[in-house]
Amino acid sequence: MICKTLLLLILTVRNVSSSLESSGLSVKLNDVDYFISPFSQGRAYDQPLDAKSRGGQFGFVPVTVIAETSTNITDLLTNWTRIDDVWQPGFLTTIILASSGRSRSRPVSMTYYPNFTSEILPLQESSRIPSGPYFLDTYTGEVHQAFRLYDDFAGAFTQSLLQKPDGTFQTLSAHIQSSASLTIGVPSRLYFTATKEKPLAGVRVGVKDIFALAGARRSNGNRAWYGLYPPASQTCAVMQNLLDAGAIIVGLQKLSQFSNGETPTADWVDYHAPFNPRGDGYQDTASSSAGAGSSIGSYEWLDLAVGSDTGGSIRGPAAVQGVFGNRPTHGIVSLDNVMPMSPSLDTAGFLARDPYIWGAAQAAMYKGNYTSYGSFEYPGKLYTLDFPTEDTPTTKILNKFSADLAAFLNATVTPLNISKEWENSAPTQVGSNTISQLLNLTYTALITMDQTQLLRDQFYKDYAAVHDGRLPFVDPVPLARWSWGDEQPDYQRTNAIENKTLFMDWFNEKILFRSPNTKTCSSSIILHTDSTGSLSNRNRYLNPPALPFGFSNGEISVFAETPDSVFPLGEIPVQSTITNHTELVPVAVDVMVAKGCDGLIAQLALDLVEAGIIKKPKAGSTLNGGEILLRRGDVPLTSA
Ligand SMILES: *[C@@H]1O[C@H](CO)[C@@H](O)[C@H](O)[C@H]1NC(C)=O
Ligand SMILES: *[C@@H]1O[C@H](CO)[C@@H](O)[C@H](O)[C@H]1NC(C)=O
Ligand SMILES: *[C@@H]1O[C@H](CO)[C@@H](O)[C@H](O)[C@H]1NC(C)=O
Ligand SMILES: *[C@@H]1O[C@H](CO)[C@@H](O)[C@H](O)[C@H]1NC(C)=O
Ligand SMILES: *[C@@H]1O[C@H](CO)[C@@H](O)[C@H](O)[C@H]1NC(C)=O
Ligand SMILES: *[C@@H]1O[C@H](CO)[C@@H](O)[C@H](O)[C@H]1NC(C)=O
Ligand SMILES: *[C@@H]1O[C@H](CO)[C@@H](O)[C@H](O)[C@H]1NC(C)=O
Ligand SMILES: *[C@@H]1O[C@H](CO)[C@@H](O)[C@H](O)[C@H]1NC(C)=O
Ligand SMILES: *[C@@H]1O[C@H](CO)[C@@H](O)[C@H](O)[C@H]1NC(C)=O
Repeated sequence: MICKTLLLLILTVRNVSSSLESSGLSVKLNDVDYFISPFSQGRAYDQPLDAKSRGGQFGFVPVTVIAETSTNITDLLTNWTRIDDVWQPGFLTTIILASSGRSRSRPVSMTYYPNFTSEILPLQESSRIPSGPYFLDTYTGEVHQAFRLYDDFAGAFTQSLLQKPDGTFQTLSAHIQSSASLTIGVPSRLYFTATKEKPLAGVRVGVKDIFALAGARRSNGNRAWYGLYPPASQTCAVMQNLLDAGAIIVGLQKLSQFSNGETPTADWVDYHAPFNPRGDGYQDTASSSAGAGSSIGSYEWLDLAVGSDTGGSIRGPAAVQGVFGNRPTHGIVSLDNVMPMSPSLDTAGFLARDPYIWGAAQAAMYKGNYTSYGSFEYPGKLYTLDFPTEDTPTTKILNKFSADLAAFLNATVTPLNISKEWENSAPTQVGSNTISQLLNLTYTALITMDQTQLLRDQFYKDYAAVHDGRLPFVDPVPLARWSWGDEQPDYQRTNAIENKTLFMDWFNEKILFRSPNTKTCSSSIILHTDSTGSLSNRNRYLNPPALPFGFSNGEISVFAETPDSVFPLGEIPVQSTITNHTELVPVAVDVMVAKGCDGLIAQLALDLVEAGIIKKPKAGSTLNGGEILLRRGDVPLTSA
């Protein structure tokens, strides 16, 4: 009887299954915030260790693994402080050293780093654990990766992600002291070595919240969307290309809703606009890849941000944050499982501070459709399109750059008047219509008529089905655009494609054509500018949303499908109405080459940096770094 009861009890207990799973741990080491990955990297040490006597927490102790044999450890550690923001001397209490040949029974102490004495333990011979900082599980001898935790003070991210060993994603379960912002975790750079197969090994990437990542939900900048749909079951092909190249995705980033251009702050209803770190800290980030621009301008710990550009969504944020950004050749890579605006115009590209990483990322994402660094000879023709003529600091910067570039190319600067070219050689079908008349409605027709059909209609249907016929909330800008699209007759879209094609064929044949020399690829380089170093305060009351009619030079590449990239050139002083102080805002230029010649641009950026014509921008309040306004005050005021 008793036995039976006991058995029943055991069975009952077994039936109430409970699954306790670690999603990682947050700790502080010498006052720096860390995250202990829940995933083991393997067994580094094969004896039990006493955690308590080593100042452990939850059975973990910080350790430094040194897998290199016969190296000068002091030199190695000094190098690490220079190249990695995760490792610090706090990991030195225990060093697990390869081929240390030390007897296990007699652990030795060594001082490899000024003022830090370490206990040396032997690294398991069979382990293939790369060097770096880890947290050692003292029960199992397994090591877990260390992530440094950072505050997303610029509000650039929508979600913080942890990349699992199988390449899928889960939420990073960490939060550090911060006001209304997320915590982002980055793994030590020491774990990764770039190779030919994995050129992006360890490169830390933020991703616009429109790309499907297996295991993660996405928002497309809309709360209702985020709540409605389950996590993606598969990572989209473009992001898989980056993962295959070794990139580490650390989070999803904000965009203006459904990638429609929004201006802070009134337009940004569902999510608050991210902050532009440059100047007074209260300038528009531009959109739609707003989080991408904000993060690359703000965070030295982030290497790369993936954005999308339909009508300027990468180039705008790159320009006003003073970083590199590319709209690639249209169709260079498949955008399956990426939120559409208009498939005839949508592209995916990058924002970065380092042109080398920028180029490597493009090579990884665009694969066979991209030709890499070092393969090109430069075209001998350089055009400028509508450069300003008034004598201003911005004009000086632009003119200096075009003159320097001309000298570098052994070319002369020739102003290009596209209206005049059009008058001379426009296709006969367009009659006497100017480019503006031909293309005034084209962009608006394509993005509204495509997005309503490809995205909105199913979204509304799905939302209504589970919410008793309700409509989801949509921000004013996409709503105004979609309403305009609803009023258009079907032929408007057909006309839009026709007009786009007429312009594209003309431009790619008459103005910016492929060079007969495949090494040169592009017949010329065309410079234009949409970023003239002007102020756009985020504390302004704006008019109701207007539709994006009209034509600007930034739309040439949109219709002609050519690559168009932003190079940061410098900055100009402006009097901020917010700080009542002179602040610096970035000036950038757009560089266009012929369709399919994308690799030429990153190569040019790298060569111009090497030649000292442009500089790699830094994160901070200026292109040379500097404390960001939002962060000032980190030094506490002494109380009166
Ligand atoms: C290692 O490098 C340091 C600094 O460069 C030097 O002082 C030390 O003598 C070197 N140690 C050995 C064992 O070579
Ligand atoms: C430290 O870095 C320098 C410069 O990059 C390099 O020459 C040296 O070999 C490195 N030392 C070790 C021990 O890795
Ligand atoms: C090591 O400690 C001594 C004595 O406290 C101090 O003077 C020295 O600056 C320390 N060195 C480093 C590199 O921290
Ligand atoms: C290259 O471009 C073509 C044409 O747009 C596209 O179909 C193909 O998928 C691209 N290839 C890769 C590897 O992305
Ligand atoms: C420009 O001319 C110089 C001198 O003739 C030459 O060394 C250089 O390679 C040329 N540069 C380019 C980009 O053609
Ligand atoms: C460009 O050409 C148009 C048409 O010929 C002309 O009206 C305009 O003044 C020109 N612009 C400049 C800056 O020369
Ligand atoms: C562009 O289209 C809008 C809307 O139809 C119209 O109000 C505007 O006048 C047009 N502009 C040009 C330059 O044709
Ligand atoms: C197409 O171009 C014609 C002028 O040739 C213009 O009247 C029409 O509005 C344009 N339509 C669209 C949708 O671009
Ligand atoms: C702004 O600065 C000017 C010049 O230093 C000063 O006269 C003025 O009072 C300041 N304005 C405010 C609101 O402090």
